[in-house]
Amino acid sequence: MVTTSIKQMVRSNVGVIDRAIYSDPDIYAQELEQVFGRSWLYVAHTSQLSKPNDFMANYMGEDPVLVTKDAKGKLHTFLNMCRHRGNRICRADFGNAPSFMCTYHGWTFSTDGKLVGVPGYKEAYFEELDRTQWGLVEARTDSYKGLVFANWDKEAPGLLEFLGDAVWYLDIWLDRRENRTEVLGGMHRWVMPFNWKFGVDNFGGDTYHTMVSHGSMSLAGFSQGQRQPISTDKSRFQVAIGNGHCFIGGVDPELQKQPQGSTFNKETAQYIRDINEEQTARLGKVRGAHAMGVGSLFPNFSWIAAPFVRNWHPRGISKTEMWSWCIVDKDAPQEIKNAMRVELTQRFGPSASMEQDDANNWMGSTETSRSLTGKKYPLNMQMGLGRQWTSEIHPAKALNIPWSDTNWLHFYEHWAKMMDAPSWSQIQLDPIKHRQ
Ligand code: FES
Ligand code: FE
Repeated sequence: MVTTSIKQMVRSNVGVIDRAIYSDPDIYAQELEQVFGRSWLYVAHTSQLSKPNDFMANYMGEDPVLVTKDAKGKLHTFLNMCRHRGNRICRADFGNAPSFMCTYHGWTFSTDGKLVGVPGYKEAYFEELDRTQWGLVEARTDSYKGLVFANWDKEAPGLLEFLGDAVWYLDIWLDRRENRTEVLGGMHRWVMPFNWKFGVDNFGGDTYHTMVSHGSMSLAGFSQGQRQPISTDKSRFQVAIGNGHCFIGGVDPELQKQPQGSTFNKETAQYIRDINEEQTARLGKVRGAHAMGVGSLFPNFSWIAAPFVRNWHPRGISKTEMWSWCIVDKDAPQEIKNAMRVELTQRFGPSASMEQDDANNWMGSTETSRSLTGKKYPLNMQMGLGRQWTSEIHPAKALNIPWSDTNWLHFYEHWAKMMDAPSWSQIQLDPIKHRQ
């Protein structure tokens, strides 16, 4: 347990952050416990669990979990761990099965978590093993318009309270079309040597890096999105939503005629415009003017242009496993879905262009956070400090021009709050302005 207050390391009022938060193993242990052990974490999409006994494997922090739909249709999230000697009960990534038999000694669990089979129950255990006490370890599970989340902490607030005003923004993606969304195809998974927070904060608030880090893409003609010059124009902004959730891509609907977002390909950009009428009819004029931009839900789920989404799974203080895939509108034409899938592969993934630009930077930042002299010098997050504003039309806690560290500081302030508080009773969430 870290004894210094984490808040002293995250000095958001002056925009300075201690680098130990990226390199101290004690801080990492504490964040597994107090951030990943107590937050609602994205674990699956309901389209992956459409039939009884469907299952999907994921991680909550470093804990492997299985998300299941039981025979009666109820969603569960279980620790993927046999209660006998702790082996995993399932090695498949997804599928459909009425039960999971551990490959070590054969204990078998149903999709609602009960221990239903024990080899030698009569002969070796003399029927004295209380099987009701040795079912799977279960996390709380809930979903919001297709996104399934789970939480280990019984004291945590409900999912909607945790998401707060993020749902107002998520609807722009999850509810813009009548039949909502589905997962498209499989996913890319790979491990890189950087701290997980560098990825989350980049997706949640770093417009600044695009011109430099991804500048070569613009020069080569692969992307229009990276060419926007830095300006003080307030018609586009980034949004510190509340509770550590962040979004880049807010617009003033009076000034924007077409929804803007981080779409790159002509086909997908045109598709966003084509569905605008339906989106506006479903969500109103303000949210009709928005595309999904880039963002991060606290603590480790991000999207870019929605459909490209990812989990940032911590694998130690200096290692992150990325899971990257598409969540698309169910009603989108197949050729658009195909275009999105190709775009994902080209831009975001282990061999994709933008990914390589980004990952090298995060590796460099992680390395110097560990080095003897480097770690003595704090990080600078002072861009746009004190320039935030609020808006009648946006429920978010604060807005700033897209070139600002506001969202980063917002993420780290909430992270510090969770790291310092011994229980949920001492964590105050931001007030929700927009009730559904
Ligand atoms: Fe699973 Fe023994 S570890 S049955
Ligand atoms: Fe990037």
